[in-house]
Amino acid sequence: MKDKLRIYVFGASGDLAKRKTFPALFELFSRGLLNDVELVGYARTEMSDEEFRDVLSEFLTCRYVPGESCQTYMDDFLALCTYEHGMYDADSLDKAFSKYEHVENNIFYMALPPVVYVSAVDAIHGAECFEYCQSSLKLVLEKPFGHSLASSEDLQDSLSSYFVEEQFYRIDHYLGKELVQNILVLRFANIFFEPLWNSEYIERVDIFWKETLSLHGRAGYFDKYGIIKDVIQNHLIQILALISIERIAELSTDNVSCAKLKLLDSVKKLTKNNAVVGQYIGNGQVPGYLEEPGVSEKSKTPTYARVNLEIENERWKGVPFTITAGKGLDETVTKVVVSFKRVKPIFKDMCECQSVPNKLVIQIQPEPHIYLGICNKVPGEGFKLSKKRLNFLYSEGYNEQIPDAYASLILDVIKGDKNMFVGIEELQASWRIFDDFLAESESNDGDMPVAYTFGANEKEVF
Ligand SMILES: NC(=O)c1ccc[n+]([C@@H]2O[C@H](COP(=O)([O-])OP(=O)(O)OC[C@H]3O[C@@H](n4cnc5c(N)ncnc54)[C@H](OP(=O)(O)O)[C@@H]3O)[C@@H](O)[C@H]2O)c1
Repeated sequence: MKDKLRIYVFGASGDLAKRKTFPALFELFSRGLLNDVELVGYARTEMSDEEFRDVLSEFLTCRYVPGESCQTYMDDFLALCTYEHGMYDADSLDKAFSKYEHVENNIFYMALPPVVYVSAVDAIHGAECFEYCQSSLKLVLEKPFGHSLASSEDLQDSLSSYFVEEQFYRIDHYLGKELVQNILVLRFANIFFEPLWNSEYIERVDIFWKETLSLHGRAGYFDKYGIIKDVIQNHLIQILALISIERIAELSTDNVSCAKLKLLDSVKKLTKNNAVVGQYIGNGQVPGYLEEPGVSEKSKTPTYARVNLEIENERWKGVPFTITAGKGLDETVTKVVVSFKRVKPIFKDMCECQSVPNKLVIQIQPEPHIYLGICNKVPGEGFKLSKKRLNFLYSEGYNEQIPDAYASLILDVIKGDKNMFVGIEELQASWRIFDDFLAESESNDGDMPVAYTFGANEKEVF
C-alpha cells in the first residue's frame, strides 16, 4: 500500500517500549504527525492485542490534546496498535508477519537488550515476509552500542553484513532534546557568539550531568557499564561535540556528522591523570552503591566521574573541557557552562565581577533555560558594579510544549532525516577517547573509586 507506514517495535513488552517508544508515538499521533500508520509490537511474551493495549494505555499521557478529547485520541491510537509474539529468528518472524500486507515504509525499532540486536537483525534479513522491503527498511538502535571500542566494532561488523549504514538510526535521545538541538542554532544563527567561540575568549567549558537518584532499579545494567559508559561516552560527548565543532556550511547530515567526527578525532585520549572517579556510600537513609541489590559485592563501577578533556586543534588550544557526571548527588541538572576570559578592568570597583567571569549557561534539564552572566552597573552614583543575568526561560518565552526527545527523533526517522543520529564513525571516535582509560580502570589493577556520601554536593567532596 502506497505511503503507508508500519513501525515494528521489537521488545515491545519491555521498559523502553512502554515508557518511551509508544508514548512518543502517541505524542506524534496527537500532534497530527503520524498518519496512515500501523504500530506492531513484537516480543516473546504472549499477549493478546487487547492485553497489549491495556499495558500501553497506562503509560500514555495527554500533553498535546485537551483533557476531554484525550480519551478519544487514546482509543484511536490504541486501535492502530497490534501485538505478535515470537522468538528472534526468520521462521518466527515469518509465522508472525506473513499475514500482514506489504506496505511502502517499514521501520524496525529495536527496544531490545543489545545482545539480541544481531539475531533480531539477522532474522529480519532472513525472513521471507520482509524480502520485499529489504533495501528500503530502516532500523532504529538504542544505546549502548557496545561496551568498548572492540565490541562496538564487532557489533557493527555483524550488523553491516545485513544492511547498509544509511538504514541504521542510532538513537542517542539527548540529541532529540530541544536545548541540545538549539546549541547549533545558538552558535550559528547569532552573530555575536561565533567570533568569541575560541581559546582567545573562552577560558573553559564545563558540562554537568547530576542526578539525585540512586540506581532506580537499573542495577543489572548500570553495574556492567558505570557512569562513563552510561552518560559520558555517548550523551555528554555528543553535547561536547556540538559545542565545539567548526562552523558548518549548511545544515545537512553529512556536514554535521563530518564536523563531529573531525572534532572527536582531535580529542586527546583520556588518561588516569585527567580523571577522577567516585562511588557513593550510604548516608544513613539511602544505602550505598555496594549495598544495592544487583550490584556485585566488590564492584569498582563508578557512579561519578569528572574527566578533563583536551581538544587538539587551533580553535581550542589550551581550553579545558570538563565533563562531570554523577548519581546520588545533591541536585538533578544537565547543563553546559561556557566561561569567558576576564576583561581588563577600567573601573575601580570590579571585585565582584572579576571574581567570576562572564558565563553562558545552557541548561538542558530539568527546566530548559539559557542565561548569560554579565557585569552590570548598580543604579546610583559612581560606578559600582555587580553580577546580573540576561535570562531566558523557555517556559516564559514560548507557549509551545517542548516535544519529547524520543518523539522528535522518531519523527526524524520517519522523514529520513539523520542530522541528530550517531554515525558509525563518530561512535567509534568517541569510544577511542575512553577505551584505554576504561580498560585500565576495569582491570584487576584498577583503583577503587573515591567514596562520596549519597546526596553530597560534589564540589565539597572532590
Ligand atoms: N529503559 C530505558 O529507559 C532505556 C534508556 C536508554 C536506552 N535503553 C536501551 O533500550 C533497549 C531496551 O531497554 P529496556 O529497558 O526496555 O530493556 P528490557 O526491558 O530489559 O528488555 C526489553 C524486552 O526485550 C525482551 N528481552 C529481554 N531479554 C531478551 C533476550 N535475551 N532475548 C530476546 N528478548 C529479550 C523482553 O521481552 P520478552 O521477554 O517479552 O521477549 C523485554 O521486555 C536496551 O538496549 C537499553 O539499553 C533503555
